[in-house]
Amino acid sequence: MTNKKIPDIVVTSALPYANGPIHIGHLVEYIQTDVYVRFLKLLGKNAVYCCAGDTHGTAIEINAKKEGVTPEALVEKFLQAHQDDFAAYNIEFDSYYTTNSDENKALSESIFAKLKEADHIYEKEIEQLYSEKDKRFLPDRYVKGECPKCGAEDQYGDNCEKCGAIYKPTDLINPKSAISGDTPILKKSTHLFFKLSSFSDWLKEWLTKNERLQPEVRNQMLGWIEKGLEDWCISRDGPYFGFKIPDTDKYFYVWLDAPIGYISSLSNLVGGIEKAETIWNEAEVQHFIGKDITYFHLLFWPATLHAAGWKVPDNVVVHGFLTVDGEKMSKSRGTFLTASEFAEKVPDTEFLRFYYAANLGHAMTDVDLNLADFSERVNKELVGNVANFVYRTLSFAHKNYDGKLEKKADDEAAKELEQKITEKEKIILNYFETYEFRKAVQEILHVADLGNAYFQAAEPWKNKETSQPVLTTCVNLVKDLSLLLAPILPEFSRKVQEQLNLKDLTFTDFGFSLENHTINKPEIIWRPIEELVFDKPKEAERDITPASLKLITAEITKVERHPKADKLYIEHLDDGSGKERVIVSGLVPYYAEAELVGKRIVLVDNLKPAKLRGVESKGMLLAADDGKGALEVLESDAKPGTPVLIESFEQREEEITIDEFFSIKIEVSENKVLCAGKALSADSKPLTTKKVVNGTVA
Ligand code: 2FM
Ligand code: ZN
Repeated sequence: MTNKKIPDIVVTSALPYANGPIHIGHLVEYIQTDVYVRFLKLLGKNAVYCCAGDTHGTAIEINAKKEGVTPEALVEKFLQAHQDDFAAYNIEFDSYYTTNSDENKALSESIFAKLKEADHIYEKEIEQLYSEKDKRFLPDRYVKGECPKCGAEDQYGDNCEKCGAIYKPTDLINPKSAISGDTPILKKSTHLFFKLSSFSDWLKEWLTKNERLQPEVRNQMLGWIEKGLEDWCISRDGPYFGFKIPDTDKYFYVWLDAPIGYISSLSNLVGGIEKAETIWNEAEVQHFIGKDITYFHLLFWPATLHAAGWKVPDNVVVHGFLTVDGEKMSKSRGTFLTASEFAEKVPDTEFLRFYYAANLGHAMTDVDLNLADFSERVNKELVGNVANFVYRTLSFAHKNYDGKLEKKADDEAAKELEQKITEKEKIILNYFETYEFRKAVQEILHVADLGNAYFQAAEPWKNKETSQPVLTTCVNLVKDLSLLLAPILPEFSRKVQEQLNLKDLTFTDFGFSLENHTINKPEIIWRPIEELVFDKPKEAERDITPASLKLITAEITKVERHPKADKLYIEHLDDGSGKERVIVSGLVPYYAEAELVGKRIVLVDNLKPAKLRGVESKGMLLAADDGKGALEVLESDAKPGTPVLIESFEQREEEITIDEFFSIKIEVSENKVLCAGKALSADSKPLTTKKVVNGTVA
């Protein structure tokens, strides 16, 4: 990197795990930070943008094992892919490094040694879930079981997705290893703890005095401190991918060395950890993060730095999550898009930079990418307003005056325009500085509106011979627009400046002083977005939940033996549709034909049809199995075609495969039929069994 001067502002984004692709949710933060850093640089500040791949932890170790590669190789692959993705969105780092570096190891050891020296570390024996089969302790995300609060199945070891309860992995009912399904045991191990609790008062003061923090963030932190901070376990047992803690058989927990990665990324830029330490302690340090990692950045991290004698961050800017069309990104809705998938769908990745900036404020509020609104705003505001003003001005000047500009206009209208624009520029820079990009965008669009209105009112096409000054004024406005947009749309801005026959402008170039200048031949930069099509993914990649099931009641009208299979019946059904429907099921050992005729059963309506020994089965009936030889077909009095609902889940129409069906667990508990802990019912009447008291349903 060629930055010769000593940086006076160090800006970071959270380090992405080098363990999976960058998606459009990640991009909110990197675009937000990149816009801010570009703004600072255009302002003449010596700001640097430092980031790195977050390479350590259990997940990376396990994934590498699954793929049969070393963690180093896995991480390397993603480090490269991430940088390619960022580059495709014009996100420009001064340093993109890795937490698995010598510098990061040295810094982690040195910070840890300082904590130890100052008596902020102690040892304690704790009990954790351990799988003898996997030969490892199981962290939160690697153990699944029933929620201790609501009983929902298949919940992770830290919190319940169904009821929101937060608990310890040891609280889970019926815990199982998410790696092997093994039932873990409790095992003791001695760990290292950082005395976070003894920094409560110091943190409180730091949070209260720091006026730059968002009030909602400060209040959240103060609330947590008020409830009492627990000391922080900073060690992990092997197998683990990370740095060994000197003189122990443990590793540093990934969240200890990850933020230290900010400093090692800086050291990679400035040439060594000593220089980085000096700069860190003298420069202004600002972190950009998402609302899910505030605990780490506003409690653990400042306390660690402070305890080790380092300067703490000057500001932490916290943004919300990305939603797409108002909902969480989802594979089944086709809205979980990687950065490279999205890049393929849009004519220009800067459109996403524009849209995110146009929706970002200095707040933890979620940002919604509404796909219809995205196309509309890009087409109307960027293409129709901004780019149109640029092209209209430059092509008029080029065509009529050979691109030669002399004096600017000095009539009342031009003076008024200049004054308005100069005022707006101040306001816009202030919005950038205070992270209010949404407001900055609104004002920039207003500047383009003013330009279009001035051009329109001046009607230069009526008096081409005398209108050259009008065009000089408009060209100055085009230049200023290119500058105002430069933090958000760096490539567009570069192209406009190239057409203007100008280069590398900064905010000192604002104003209407460009005269006696010749511009280059302009070209149209953008065309409108025609149609954005996001395909639904293939079946294998979908999220399958109880909501994927469509169940209905049906009546068996006729039963015959399958000609080619001893255990199978062919059942003819009335499913309420008016058309006869045929399914095949393995009930011969359990029911006589006559017992089945007339029964009202529960049918999986959206199961992909399958041929069973040559006979096509359109759906499947549900039966409970007690695991001891008894089988009972689920029944309901409701008339054929009645939806069987799983409380609170809407039914989806999409077809599911038999494997997907089996991934959804339905069970009988005390004669009640449940899915994810919720009762199944038809016509508001819960389904119950007579014979099978407890068992599984398939
Ligand atoms: O939450 C995450 O994705 C982490 N990899 C962020 C780390 S930020 C910093 F502390 F390193
Ligand atoms: Zn729960």
